[in-house]
Amino acid sequence: MIRTWHLGDRHQSLVLACRNAGLPEVVYWGPALPESENLQVLAKAAVMDVTGGMVDENAPISLNPEASRTFPGQTGLSARDAAGKVLAPRFSFQSEERAGNELSLVYSDESCGLSLRFDLSLTEATSLFKLKAQLQSQEDIVVDWLAAPVLPVPAYADEMIEFSGRWCSEFLTNRLPFAPGARVRDNRTGRTDHAHFPGLIVCNPTTSNTAGEAFAFHYGWSGGHRMVAEELADGRRQVQFGHAFASLPTGTLFATAPLYATYSADGLNGAAVRFQRHVRSQIVKDARTPRPVHYNCWEAVYFDHKLDELKAIADRAAELGAERFVLDDGWFGKRDDDTSSLGDWTIDPSKYPDGLTPLIDHITSLGMEFGIWYEPEMVNEDSGLYRAHPDWILGPEDQTRGRQQLVLDMAREDVRKYLFDQMSAVLGNHAVGYVKWDHNRVLPVVDAPQTEGVYALIDQLRRAFPHVEFESCSSGGGRIDFGILERTQRVWLSDSNDALERQRIQHDAALFLPASVTGSHVGPRHCHTSGRVIGMSMRAWTAAQRHLGFEMDPRELTDDEARMLKAVTDWWKANRDWLMQADILRLDTIDPAIIAEIQVAETGDRFAAFAALTRPSDQILPHPIRLTGLDPDAVYKITLTNRDETPGLSRGAPLLKYQDLTVSGRYLMSHGLTLPWRFPETICVIEGQRLPN
Ligand code: DGJ
Repeated sequence: MIRTWHLGDRHQSLVLACRNAGLPEVVYWGPALPESENLQVLAKAAVMDVTGGMVDENAPISLNPEASRTFPGQTGLSARDAAGKVLAPRFSFQSEERAGNELSLVYSDESCGLSLRFDLSLTEATSLFKLKAQLQSQEDIVVDWLAAPVLPVPAYADEMIEFSGRWCSEFLTNRLPFAPGARVRDNRTGRTDHAHFPGLIVCNPTTSNTAGEAFAFHYGWSGGHRMVAEELADGRRQVQFGHAFASLPTGTLFATAPLYATYSADGLNGAAVRFQRHVRSQIVKDARTPRPVHYNCWEAVYFDHKLDELKAIADRAAELGAERFVLDDGWFGKRDDDTSSLGDWTIDPSKYPDGLTPLIDHITSLGMEFGIWYEPEMVNEDSGLYRAHPDWILGPEDQTRGRQQLVLDMAREDVRKYLFDQMSAVLGNHAVGYVKWDHNRVLPVVDAPQTEGVYALIDQLRRAFPHVEFESCSSGGGRIDFGILERTQRVWLSDSNDALERQRIQHDAALFLPASVTGSHVGPRHCHTSGRVIGMSMRAWTAAQRHLGFEMDPRELTDDEARMLKAVTDWWKANRDWLMQADILRLDTIDPAIIAEIQVAETGDRFAAFAALTRPSDQILPHPIRLTGLDPDAVYKITLTNRDETPGLSRGAPLLKYQDLTVSGRYLMSHGLTLPWRFPETICVIEGQRLPN
């Protein structure tokens, strides 16, 4: 008897089958199948042949490939009993629960005392699968590896795009060919990290932003993941995601984080839009709308907090249009540099003799919300907390320090209680609407309970202070994933406020992140992390592509710069209601110097496109940029929003340089928009309005 299940919507189908009573395997994942499709036939038709030099049956790439079935690749479970004996279960079917596109399957192996549960669901509104596995044991066991439900990818999808990065250059994409053997990522940093965003896109060499097939994955976990993308000797391919190797504690219950996955027939954008929508509608909760314009004082004052200066900065920020003022690192303990005070979350009386209230009152009187920086999981040796509780740290005492700091053991209830009480004393007694939650070093050990402890503390704080928004920062984008986004409303994408670097980072992050959660700030004229000087238009429009903020000392601005920044901020405010709900679609450009995207409103009736010329082009003239995501039969009015920035060296006459255009979606998506010539390191902003038929 073959059991089969079909999860699907109008975009995709996933068909599971299990022969005998064994674990099910995905026998089909791809475009939506007709309702009439006979799943029994699919299950049998998918069975691959056997020839010489092979065992007599191909072990399935089941939801958890089993060593006991002579699976020839990486197995989905690696576990030992208390005596160290390797466990090789052979699971058999116990029960199922089904409701629409939600399916739970339970399997067990009595001889090992193990049961394995899979929870699979498809959110139809976003066409994203959410897949989880949970292992239960009757005795204490050691689990080195438990994969979330394992998915096969087809042999025709020959490439993978995966992610690396570094401080100030998050979300670097690497496009690699699939080859025999396993591509393994095992993130040992204990956090999501700049270098290890837990995502993977399997596609064809020809898949572009706008066309082709893609199978995309994201593991929603903040404690470091492991990924295996393997081509077996017989050519079949599997993708596994789970917690970093050996990061689970010994015990009886082990669960993976959710693995999110989707199949797209519409290029990388098809998958990107689903992740973006899912973050907006299913992952992030209680995000303030409209999204307020940020001001963050870090690059203006660093640790040098002076009440009068901060008030003067706040005045200027409010004039420019800021609606939230975030007081960054330096307000607590004796924090005059980064060598001390983490852990002592009491207001520094030498900087704030009357507490924070005078500053907060000033900020709120300007109509801004007050936000405050914390790095709760960390402690400096030079702190009251460390002196009182040297035993509260995670890892050995002689470990290498990171930014002169140690990590608190967040699995301890007393540690979490201390942090909750310290933070509550500030949040509960002041008008605080926002917490920037930082995390500035890798962990000394990879440890899932640490991450569970962080999640528990944030959850507790969110319950106690439901009006407070949280931002996830980790030296910029070192902790960005759907696990942390389930409890925060914004991520600090990168410590790079260099607009040109930001263009690249936010472009690649848009494969998973919507604009509404992606913080992007207008930095100082002289960028502090790259040393470059970039014009205000480029800086302001780049930040306006995401959740806009400012982070320079606004007193450095010339009148022209201030005017430009105010104008872009006003534009952003006038458009944010739809922009922060829009789909970001990356554009394919023939000029590698151009990074371009279109943001299409949920209703489809308007869009904004941004084309940044990040360096001098090799070609002398700009070639048309083809848009995407529009209705080919609709007619759009097109405006070059920053037309007045076209330089004198543009001597020709593309119509858009002088006036708005009225053209069809088909024209925009096939011929594309011919833009005027411009200087490198500048940006073209284009707005489109769909006209009534
Ligand atoms: C690292 C963050 O990414 C910065 O934005 C800032 O908050 C500093 N930490 C403060 O120490």
